[in-house]
Amino acid sequence: MNPLVYKRSRIVLFKLRVLFEWPFFRLKQNRVPLSCRVGTNVTLYGSDIGRYCYIGPGCILNNVDMGNYCSLAPHVQIGGMEHAWWWGSTSPFLSNRHIDNLKTRIGADVWIGANAVVRQSVSVERGSVVGAGAVVLNDVPPYSIVVGQPARVLKRRFSDEIIEQLENSRFWELEPKEAKRKLDDISFPSKPEWLMGMQIAEK
Ligand SMILES: CC(C)(COP(=O)(O)OP(=O)(O)OC[C@H]1O[C@@H](n2cnc3c(N)ncnc32)[C@H](O)[C@@H]1OP(=O)(O)O)[C@@H](O)C(=O)NCCC(=O)NCCS
Repeated sequence: MNPLVYKRSRIVLFKLRVLFEWPFFRLKQNRVPLSCRVGTNVTLYGSDIGRYCYIGPGCILNNVDMGNYCSLAPHVQIGGMEHAWWWGSTSPFLSNRHIDNLKTRIGADVWIGANAVVRQSVSVERGSVVGAGAVVLNDVPPYSIVVGQPARVLKRRFSDEIIEQLENSRFWELEPKEAKRKLDDISFPSKPEWLMGMQIAEK
């Protein structure tokens, strides 16, 4: 065979292999139930996503264990490599001292705002909210709202009594119809002040 044709056909075969194998290779490393909604340009590595999660466009998740009913706004980044800043160079081409194998845990029913970054190994507990643009370096307590860089607790979402009712209902383990029924049985405080007087369709 003409060596030029041989070389070209090898390149075409290689490109076809990358095209067909790479998406399947990446899918094999993750678990994403069919009930989830995943936006465009989402990248997942070694992640286990719960049922009924929403992952906004442009999110990047590395080695994440996520519970049911989580919502991620666009461009959230969770986990990812800690390059070896404590050694002579941070480049992974010069050493393998970086850390990229620690799980980051996101509890059920967590909402993470746009462009937030959650550091590898952190635990964001059930029912919490991470504000837009936050940089989360430490564990986030259950049912709290954290904001800022670095993220700090702004407030708790509910009183102890309501949290107890939510915990007893275990709604996040149920299918949506049953979960909604459980939530309808709990009376929550009124909306935030800035929403008062606005025309909002209650669903
Ligand atoms: C975190 C969040 C839920 C808080 O909402 P809230 O309780 O109504 O907050 P408020 O507007 O009452 O603000 C309370 C304080 O927190 C601060 N704050 C609120 N959100 C903040 C944020 N993302 N980063 C830094 N500070 C924030 C406010 O400046 C205010 O500070 P002050 O008391 O010193 O004035 C909301 O601000 C947010 O970030 N939502 C995410 C929106 C988003 O990403 N949507 C994408 C589509 S899913």
